[in-house]
Formats: sequence, structure tokens, C-alpha cells
Amino acid sequence: MSDKKTGILLLSHGSRLDDGEEVIKAYKEMYAEEFPDIPVEYGFMEIRKPGIPETIKKLTEENDLEKIIVVPVFVAHGLHTKRDIPGLLGIESDYEGDDHGHHHHHHDHDDHDDHHHGHHHHHHDHDDEPVEFDGEIVLTDPLGIDRRMYEIIKDRVSEHL
Ligand code: NI
Repeated sequence: MSDKKTGILLLSHGSRLDDGEEVIKAYKEMYAEEFPDIPVEYGFMEIRKPGIPETIKKLTEENDLEKIIVVPVFVAHGLHTKRDIPGLLGIESDYEGDDHGHHHHHHDHDDHDDHHHGHHHHHHDHDDEPVEFDGEIVLTDPLGIDRRMYEIIKDRVSEHL
């Protein structure tokens, strides 16, 4: 651990339904309870507030931070973690895919969000204020492949066997 004053942002995708907020808020509270000296907030990359800029603003207004560690609480890397979130954070991205020079993607969330919300991910490029932070921002990997996640998958199956 460095001795820089560090804040944590737990980042969820964002949904119009409340379930995702309940989950990310619970993880934020667990982290705050275990590490009471480390400022931690949760936020959403799109659809739901608080967004990335306002969450970072809250962290930095309440604490004199030199560094913010952003954890995308996603299972795997995808366009959001590789391209969109670095863009929103204003940090370098190693994404080299062909996005025709713009930052819009058009996936629809109907398949995992059972009411249509009709958004096409444009808003976050234009509506949100830019992130204002002079310190270091680190974007971690998502949760990835981990035996602890596999145990949860087995639990979900066994509940219905
Ligand atoms: Ni999305």
C-alpha cells in the first residue's frame, strides 16, 4: 500500500431497477465497515445516478485525495470497461477496436433488463460533466475468473436441484 491518500469508487453498470443499487451499496457498506479510514463510494457508469463525475466530486470534496481506485464491479471486460469507463474517467485506454472514431455503442439492455428503457448509451458522452480530479486514477480489472465466484455459481444451481 502506498501512503497516498486514496479513495475507492465501486462502479456498477446502472439500471432503472433498484436491484443493482442494493447490491453495489451493500458492497460499499461492507468495504466501509472493514476499512473505516478509506473513503469509499459507489456510482454508475450510465442510466442511473450518481454517475462517475459526481461520485468522484463527492469523494474529493469530502476528502483530500491524491489517488482514486475505481473497481468496475462487472464479471468480465467488455467495451464498457475497456473503452467507455476509461473515457468517462478521462484516463488512457488500451482499447484499440474499431469504433469508427466515436464513442457510441448501440447495445440494448432489453435482454437483461426486462422493461424497455430505450436508451442507446449516448447520454454519457454529452450530458455528464467531465471528471475533475488532479490526482491519479487507477481503473482495476473486473471480477474475472475466481474460484470464489465459481462457488456462488454452484450455490445458485444447487438451490434448484
Ligand atoms: Ni451498457
